[in-house]
Amino acid sequence: MKKYTVEEITKINYTDFISLIKETNRCPGGKDTIRKIVQNTFIDENSRVLDVGSNTGFTSLELSHISKAKISGIDVSEACVNTANALLATDIEEVRKRVDFQVGSAYEIPFENDTFDLVVTGGATSFMDKKQQAISEYKRVLKPWGFLSATQLFYTTKPPQAVVDAVSNAIGVTINPWLEQDWKNVFLETQESGVLELYYYEKNELQSRPADVIEEYMEYFMAKDHLKEYSEDVRNAIRKKWKMYIDVFNENHKYLGYFISLFRKTQYPEEPELFIRK
Ligand SMILES: C[S@@+](CC[C@H](N)C(=O)[O-])C[C@H]1O[C@@H](n2cnc3c(N)ncnc32)[C@H](O)[C@@H]1O
Repeated sequence: MKKYTVEEITKINYTDFISLIKETNRCPGGKDTIRKIVQNTFIDENSRVLDVGSNTGFTSLELSHISKAKISGIDVSEACVNTANALLATDIEEVRKRVDFQVGSAYEIPFENDTFDLVVTGGATSFMDKKQQAISEYKRVLKPWGFLSATQLFYTTKPPQAVVDAVSNAIGVTINPWLEQDWKNVFLETQESGVLELYYYEKNELQSRPADVIEEYMEYFMAKDHLKEYSEDVRNAIRKKWKMYIDVFNENHKYLGYFISLFRKTQYPEEPELFIRK
């Protein structure tokens, strides 16, 4: 594993940094979200799943642990793919056989048409400028009647511009301060070529955390064995940078919620249903 100097720590980008500290980057809602995705898409050992923006591997591995499906994770960050592969190497053989990670972009997904029963994206679409191109690609690689799962952070109220700017600077991506409906529109707008039906939807609010909880979380990271190998100077630089990220994200969480949405690649439009539940 690459060893960083103080200067490099101050310069590396967000994805390289979380790969360095081996953060378990999760989709919004973590394991609870992944359970709901599996329960509502009926995937099993015969299914193939694509995790777009698989980061350090959490979602792909958890999907594999609870579903037995074959999972492929892609991410544009080579550092994240390396960290995901290192984590995969520590898992049981059965999981190692079912999961693979590779560098790849949502804009040009390195798989044939109609390959997957489920395409999962947990927060990654926020990182993309060409959202419609990515969503067209998600649909292209989905089998007919396959599911697209998009779990997405959104703003519950309009956040101060300073908060949006701070998050954008931290992660190196210009964040759109979109509300729930803006995100729903992005996915539903893609109906023109083939039908993408909203199949399941739930939303939840998020919260910022108190200073003592954050302090404990910081200590947990700094106690990781692989970070103990660094000199005091480098450890201080890592701590300072991680605290900067956490403070920015914590402020942002005052204004955030997330939704879990499942869309289905239907093959024809469904007739309207008149008598629906109250
Ligand atoms: C918030 S993280 C996703 C977390 C992840 N879903 C999980 O459960 O751990 C966003 C990820 O999207 C990746 N990403 C950004 N643009 C991408 C693209 N065009 N194609 C694939 N991945 C991309 C980033 O490198 C980053 O790892």
